[in-house]
Parts: sequence; structure tokens; C-alpha cells
Amino acid sequence: MGKSTSLVRDAAESRMYEWVDERLGLDEIIEFASKKDVPQHRHSFWYYWGGITLFLFLVQLVSGILLLVYYRPGAEAYDSVRQITYDIEFGWLVRSAHSWSANLMVLAAFVHMFSVFFMKAYRKPREFGWWSGLALLGMTMVFGFSGYLLPMDELAFFATKVGLEIPASIPGVGAVIVTLVQGGDNVTSVTIQRFFALHVVILPLLFIGTLAFHLWLVQRHGNAVPPGEESKPESERRTIPFFPNFFAKDLAMWLMTLNVLAILASLYPWQLGVQADPAAPAPEGIHPEWYFMSQFQVLKVFGRWFPGVTGEIVGILLFTVGGLMWALIPLYDKDNRLAMRARNATWFGFAALIGLIVLTIWGYAEV
Ligand code: HEM
Repeated sequence: MGKSTSLVRDAAESRMYEWVDERLGLDEIIEFASKKDVPQHRHSFWYYWGGITLFLFLVQLVSGILLLVYYRPGAEAYDSVRQITYDIEFGWLVRSAHSWSANLMVLAAFVHMFSVFFMKAYRKPREFGWWSGLALLGMTMVFGFSGYLLPMDELAFFATKVGLEIPASIPGVGAVIVTLVQGGDNVTSVTIQRFFALHVVILPLLFIGTLAFHLWLVQRHGNAVPPGEESKPESERRTIPFFPNFFAKDLAMWLMTLNVLAILASLYPWQLGVQADPAAPAPEGIHPEWYFMSQFQVLKVFGRWFPGVTGEIVGILLFTVGGLMWALIPLYDKDNRLAMRARNATWFGFAALIGLIVLTIWGYAEV
């Protein structure tokens, strides 16, 4: 019986496959996915980080949609988050997972960016992969910033005010940008409404479009091989097919990421403070989120060294020039023939990484 049943099932499955294939072209999709090979060498571990970032984004989508069921932007924002946290079954867990996953996603995106940088995966023909990636990182940070205000507790309110000091210090246009973003002179329920629209409509649309472009580029060009491996003879290079081999490893990484997230979200539930009182003085030690700390610290330190607006202008200028040099790296570190430039680019990467870490620690030490 077993054999004949399985034959019938196989026939039914293959008929179903053919039915869908005829209409959607499954064969072509599978062929497109398995076309790519992933290089195997001692730095292959870093190829997982784009996928980990992607996974955390998917967690954000699912948990964010669940939060939308009860969240009410505007004047009732705090009450609705209090309800999610204390009254709705498992509401605290969904909220905790969303907040932890947001932080892990920013972290994973930074790890991914620096590993791409050190593997020199921004070189021809992957320049647009680098630029679309930078846009994704920028959007991820704005996602985090806009989401942080939504519960409107004390910390959210004051951290948003402090965070807005960064754009406010841009000479000329800073004040206009901040008034536009806030919807007035202060952070109010109008600001929540604006941040909410940004967080759940505008950013997701832009992010998903840019992500599709980013992933299409990876599929088109395949993964870059770091320069050290590139110089090896063809016979010593190893690859595995992306589908199904590397994809299976990706899934294992996603499972590990899910474990880390589950441990953090359940053992360290995300807290809700007291409701924000705009008239109250800012509590001690208010600071922006960790991924804005380095910019904040630069503004603070330069403000101290050069009192008045000069300090802020110098700080903003420094970050802008550094950021531009970072974004334009594919245009001046093109290949290993210019060995000096290639080495300088790597040193630039180390300086940026160490600079960000030191400034962030320094920022925390001073709050
Ligand atoms: C924030 C969301 C992001 C997501 C979801 C994402 C996703 C991915 C995925 C799944 C891959 C293929 C696997 C891999 O090589 O790791 C990839 C590759 C790549 N990403 Fe991203 N990425 C993001 C941000 C960034 C950033 C910030 C940069 C750099 C500025 C970047 C630059 C690249 C480049 C150049 C590649 C090709 C790497 C290679 O050829 O080896 N991505 N990305």
C-alpha cells in the first residue's frame, strides 16, 4: 500500500508543480536562485551578515504588524502601549521582540557594512550594492529613531529631543528641518503622528524597494572574493551553490539569531517608563540611542572645545566629510594595482571603526 500511495502522491505533486510552473515559471525562479555560487574561504563567515540583517527586518515586519493591532498614535499613544505591555496577552513579548530586534538589526547592519568594507566588496561592479546598502543603513537608523518616540514615555520624549539636537545643529537649515519633523516648536502628539506615518508607511515602502534592488544586485553579481583570496590560483578556489547549500546554512544562522532574540526579549523585557511630561525638567543622564551616540559625542566635545556655534559647525563638518569619503570609497579604491590607495582605504576602515567605538564608549562614560 505504502508504495502505491506514495506514487499517487508524487504524481499529484508533480501535476500541481506543473500547474503552478506553467503560470508563474517556477523553473526560471529556481534557476535564477541556483545560478549563484558562494565562495568558500576563511572569511566566508562574513557572508552571513547581510542575511542576518534581512532576517531581523522580517521579524520587525511581523512583530510591527502585530503591534499595529493595538497601538494608537497621537494623544493616546502612551495608554495604548501601556495596554499592550500590561493587559494584552503576550503583548509585552511582541513589544519586547520588536524593540530588541530593532537594536540587533542596526548592529547586524553595521557588522555587515564593515565586513563588506574590509572584503573590498564595494569595488567594480558592486558600487551600487554599496550605495544602496548605505541607504538601507540610513533608513534603518531613522526607523529606530522614529520608533523610539512612539510609546511617548519619559525616556522616549527626552531622548527624541536630545536626538533632534543633531540635525538642529546643521547650519542654516537645521532649525527648519527640526520644526518640520516635530510639527511645531516642541515634541508633541503631532510629532508622534508624523513619526508614526514615517515609521509604518513611508520608511517601509522606501526600504522594501531599496532592499529588492540590493538583493537583485547580489544575485546578479554574486559574492565578492576578498583580495587575499582573489590572488590564489583557480584550482585552489572553492565555491558552493547558493541554492540549496548556502541557503540551508543561512537558515541555520537565522535560527541562531532567533534564539538570541528570544533569550533577550523574554529574559530582559523591554520596559515602559512613566508617561512623558513635557513641562517637567529632563531627568539625569538623558542620551540618544547607542547608534547616534558617536555623532552626539562629537557635537558635545567640539561644542566644549569651541564654544558657541563654531563647535557644532566643526563637528557637523567633520561627520559630513567623513561620511562622504566613506560613501565614495568605490570611486577611489578601485583595485589592488594602486597598492598604496588600497592599503590606505583599509586603514581608513580601521580608523572609522575604532573612532565609532571609542566615541560611543566615551559618550556613555559621560552621561
Ligand atoms: C540594512 C539592511 C541591509 C540588508 C537587509 C542587507 C542584505 C544583504 C544581503 C542578504 C546580502 C547577500 C549576503 C551577504 O553578502 O552578506 C548583501 C550583500 C551586500 N551588501 Fe547588504 N544589506 C543591508 C545593508 C548594507 C549596508 C549598510 C551595506 C554597505 C554600505 C551593504 C552592502 C552590501 C554589498 C556591497 C553586498 C555584496 C557583498 C558581496 O558581494 O560579498 N549592505 N546585503
